[in-house]
Amino acid sequence: MLRGCDLRVAIASFCFLLLTTAAGAEIRLPALNDAQLQLTLFAAEPDILTPIGLAIDKRGRLFVVESHTHFPRPDYPGPKRDRVKIFEDTNGDGKPDKISIFADDLYHSMNLAFSPSGELYLTHRNAVVILHDKDGDGISQSRTTILELQTSGNYPHNGIGGIAFSPDGWLYVGLGENLGEKYTLKGSDARTHSGGGEGGNIFRCKPDGSELRLVATGFWNPFALAIYQGGHLLAVDNDPDSRPPCRLLDVVEQGDYGFKFRFGRSGLHPFVAWNGELPGTLPMMAGTGEAPSGILNCDSARLPSDYRGAVLVTSWGDHFLELYRPRPVGASLRAEREIVAQGDEWFRPVAIAAAPDGAIYFTDWADKDYSVHGKGRIWRLTTKPGVKATIAAGVSAKPNPARERMNRLVRADSLKDYGELLRALGDDDAFIRSAAVSSLAKPVFGGKIPGEIENKNPRVRLGALLAMRRAKFDKPIQLLEKLLADPDEEIRRMALVWVGEEKLVRLADRLNVALSAGPVSAVLFETYAAAAGILGTTGHSVAAAEQSAASKSSAVRTLVLIREVKQDDAKAVEILADASSDRLGQLRIEAARTLAEFPSEKADAALLNTALDRKNPVELRAEALLALSSRSADLLSKLTGLLDDSSEDVRIETARAFRQVASHPAIRDALERSSKSRSSRDQLLAEQLRLALAPQAVTRPSSDDEWRKGLAQNGDVARGRRVFFSPAVGCARCHRIEDHGGKIGPDLSTIARAADREKLMQSVLHPSRDIAPQFVTHTVETKDGQSFSGLLLGQGADGSVTLTTADGKGVLIPANEMVSNQPSAVSLMPEGLENALTVQDFRDLLAFLLLRN
Ligand code: HEC
Repeated sequence: MLRGCDLRVAIASFCFLLLTTAAGAEIRLPALNDAQLQLTLFAAEPDILTPIGLAIDKRGRLFVVESHTHFPRPDYPGPKRDRVKIFEDTNGDGKPDKISIFADDLYHSMNLAFSPSGELYLTHRNAVVILHDKDGDGISQSRTTILELQTSGNYPHNGIGGIAFSPDGWLYVGLGENLGEKYTLKGSDARTHSGGGEGGNIFRCKPDGSELRLVATGFWNPFALAIYQGGHLLAVDNDPDSRPPCRLLDVVEQGDYGFKFRFGRSGLHPFVAWNGELPGTLPMMAGTGEAPSGILNCDSARLPSDYRGAVLVTSWGDHFLELYRPRPVGASLRAEREIVAQGDEWFRPVAIAAAPDGAIYFTDWADKDYSVHGKGRIWRLTTKPGVKATIAAGVSAKPNPARERMNRLVRADSLKDYGELLRALGDDDAFIRSAAVSSLAKPVFGGKIPGEIENKNPRVRLGALLAMRRAKFDKPIQLLEKLLADPDEEIRRMALVWVGEEKLVRLADRLNVALSAGPVSAVLFETYAAAAGILGTTGHSVAAAEQSAASKSSAVRTLVLIREVKQDDAKAVEILADASSDRLGQLRIEAARTLAEFPSEKADAALLNTALDRKNPVELRAEALLALSSRSADLLSKLTGLLDDSSEDVRIETARAFRQVASHPAIRDALERSSKSRSSRDQLLAEQLRLALAPQAVTRPSSDDEWRKGLAQNGDVARGRRVFFSPAVGCARCHRIEDHGGKIGPDLSTIARAADREKLMQSVLHPSRDIAPQFVTHTVETKDGQSFSGLLLGQGADGSVTLTTADGKGVLIPANEMVSNQPSAVSLMPEGLENALTVQDFRDLLAFLLLRN
């Protein structure tokens, strides 16, 4: 029933129609951006509960996975197992008139797909099964497991997920990152594939589960797959903690999409790429909204002609139905995001499919609650009557010579192809180079490829390196000694990656060569530091080697010194105290940052002197004040004079440093005195003083709109950095930026890629409104009545669970002590953080975060 327009909805510029279900729940109709289309509610609770996968058969019947096993609460009243329901609309009125149960007794079910021969396949976390209905009575009597995942991982939705059948007779299956646990995937014949820690993968096999093979790697969690215009396999992939956005990918044979779980969940390690940043890895086709969960090739639906060749993607986290219009770029595809439909917080679209009559259906989880919660919807998207629309199924892409070349290269396996493969290594298209590298890794080229590290063309040398690394060449030491000294920086960088990945400790004392053989960028240096870290080479020989490398270039010297200063507080004290060392600019600031984390008498004295000395640059003094702000009130009381400093930044930083110690008599005194004597021009300091003296009495914007107005002005980036790291504000207790800060929340070093001003503001004002999937808090209750809340860090084969709690500690709870394990709808990030910010602090903080790209 339509109830008109609700103007209270928070999402700007949209107006949602209210629908009322049979059960009396009010459901907002998502807003559509195209007047040619219409969206109607097909089914809702109680007819459908917490749906995930969806597939539609040739007769137009909807088969839908109804989950009951995704973190059920102990008192969950629903069934104990998942089921697959059939929805039939026999009279064509856009509503189901027959609902039945096709299969039940399923566990951790994910997706559904019909094979070309009409069999229904279901993926669940640990298997792919066929649900047979041999007599066609609408009830599955038997099932066959065709792929089985053996692993101790048991998180419900990071195992097997996406599924698609290609026209050339293969079944493709996606496997999530499985929290890095070891696994073996077993086909129906003798073939298996084992791994662990490499990230998500895509496999293929025959529809009977035979001939299992790895197709592509380097994903986080390829949640949904779809075939696009014959030759393309598309996947949506969720981003790791700190490498936004999520992505839509054109998945190619032997492609490496860059992510590796073993180098940390954040995805920020120098050995990891998310958009083709690392040689040998492939870029995304498009960035998508948060938690993309379904893909539909529009050609299978009845849509107006402007949807020809487009793709629809559901975004669970951003409440969007998104549209992409892929266009060929080289051998692959690129696209930009458009929004087709936007719902409110209760719109959580998942799987999407088209019926034979061309209508589009998609499931909707309806709530951000990860625990099955008794709500659910199925939506129906159609072209309005009277608007011209057709089904364009079967359209294949226009011939693309670059794509055909890529396909030829990836199949090449004879020495007569060698010349063409080498030429391809010099191509500008990463997809062409990747195909050549994967073929050159084949044994047939093993005798020739090592010789290419002498090739004059650096791209060929780089390709040879990548091919040998991929082939896991068994005697790499001598080759790598040469490659580490290559004049080309990319080659040295990838040589370092290879050494680090394979932990080739015999090369530990040769790593420094990579810093002295040619120019050194910050990226090369980080890669070097990561490789050295893995090999554990902090010993004397390496330090000496670094020195000799450093002596050749002042840029490297700075980088080496910064690294030393970060690890060695004695060195940091020395540098901070030595004003002449400031020729190197950043270095003393870096020393102050280090000393913030290493309190000691010497460090305190050095910081105090730095803050007080008016000859020092303002930014350095402010940094020293920030470092001191976690220290004792007595120590801080020596700084009261700085409330009258000639520099505004120093005055503000002092007031902020005093916030947590404002009850100390001398400090209170100074704050009060200063607050009385302020002239009206010193507005920013006055705000700080008020927040330090009487935080409860400070009036601040009381609604999102007021905040939005208050925050519209630009802030100061350097000041914003100090707000972020201020202990009185607390962001850095949980978040990391550029190697400083805690690791409880996402690393925010690249947050500006995913969030604009509005989204950042919302993240601080309403932390629980949108929680990225991997940051859902779990609450575990134990038999002795204790309760632990934190992020899921791991799970053991025996069912034990490890959590990271809000204070950063790890807690291991053995399975036999656990009573329940529940995901929570409340973020670990606390409410009310804005109360620790002046309006200007908040502006400055946003200015700083908006530059993290
Ligand atoms: C107690 C720990 C904690 C503190 C303190 C904290 N956060 Fe968070 N933050 C989290 C966690 C956990 C998440 C992920 C879950 C979520 O999105 O709510 C998060 C999410 C975010 C996000 C969204 C990230 C994304 O990828 O979408 C932003 C932005 C953010 N925090 C900024 C801040 C800022 C700015 C501060 C300080 C004013 C702060 N946080 C303080 C724990 C914290």
